[in-house]
Amino acid sequence: MSDIVLRHPKGSIVQILLYGATIVSWQAASQRDPEPRERLFVSSTAIRDGSKPVRGGIPVVFPCFGPPAHPEHSKLSQHGFARSSVWSWDNVIKDQDGRLSVTLTLEPTPAITALYTRPFHLSFVVTLGEFDLTTELHVKNTSGSTDYPPDYLEFQALFHNYILAPANEVLITPLQNNAYFDKTETTEEGKSTAKIETRAGVDVRKFTDSVYENASQNYEVTWPSGGIAIKTDNMKDVIVWNPQAEVGSKMGDMEKGGWEKFVCCEPGHVRGFEKVAPGMTWVGKQVLSVIHNARRHQN
Ligand code: BG6
Repeated sequence: MSDIVLRHPKGSIVQILLYGATIVSWQAASQRDPEPRERLFVSSTAIRDGSKPVRGGIPVVFPCFGPPAHPEHSKLSQHGFARSSVWSWDNVIKDQDGRLSVTLTLEPTPAITALYTRPFHLSFVVTLGEFDLTTELHVKNTSGSTDYPPDYLEFQALFHNYILAPANEVLITPLQNNAYFDKTETTEEGKSTAKIETRAGVDVRKFTDSVYENASQNYEVTWPSGGIAIKTDNMKDVIVWNPQAEVGSKMGDMEKGGWEKFVCCEPGHVRGFEKVAPGMTWVGKQVLSVIHNARRHQN
């Protein structure tokens, strides 16, 4: 599969597939450990022939999260087409401080238009620093309509981060007192159960699929020896997901025991829809940074 590899002069590396604009590797050192280490999980049994989204890394979810809920998305499959379309790339830019950026783009193709008829232009900008990785999704409504009410582009978007981590030792903060929907438990009407988070640090020691609505937008995913900080803009919700053996063992492209090696902490706009007027662009952003110190807090 075609890919782009950015190499920072201080040793960090990121690898991005054109298929799905999926980041499949991010290696970075920390101030305590000068050796660049892999920070993302990709299943060793992930399908890499373009026939299905890659199980791991950072897939881009657009224009629907989960099974489609919007009438304009009804023909789309779970998590939309962005993660399973082949993107194009522009040139690489190098800043004075050594940071490197690449932009990938996606516009309607015949295959997309057969399922989704709205005009759009996506840009996915990946920026690599010494200890951090930034992803930005720009969603432009390219409709030329001047009608009133405006011909809004309505969508959901999310960065599906598979963070390489000892899953059973992970805590995610700060989510305490946040409202969430527990997708592992459904009501009689088949809806996710609404709950309030009571834990100071959220763990994933059992099968977890939680959608936190209107969360803090800045998170820490930590384990006893380190962690990753996630700072976001314009991504009001966050999902915490780990299938554990209960679900993971039934996933064809999940390596055996893979669920013990990652936690998904996925910022996005997934409750309700983002609306962009014709000619306008929405930008959602995250910065992932290596946490240099060992974790101080416990539950
Ligand atoms: C998460 C969802 O974002 O992605 C889960 O909340 C889902 O419900 C998971 O199972 C993985 O999705 P997929 O389509 O990559 O198997």
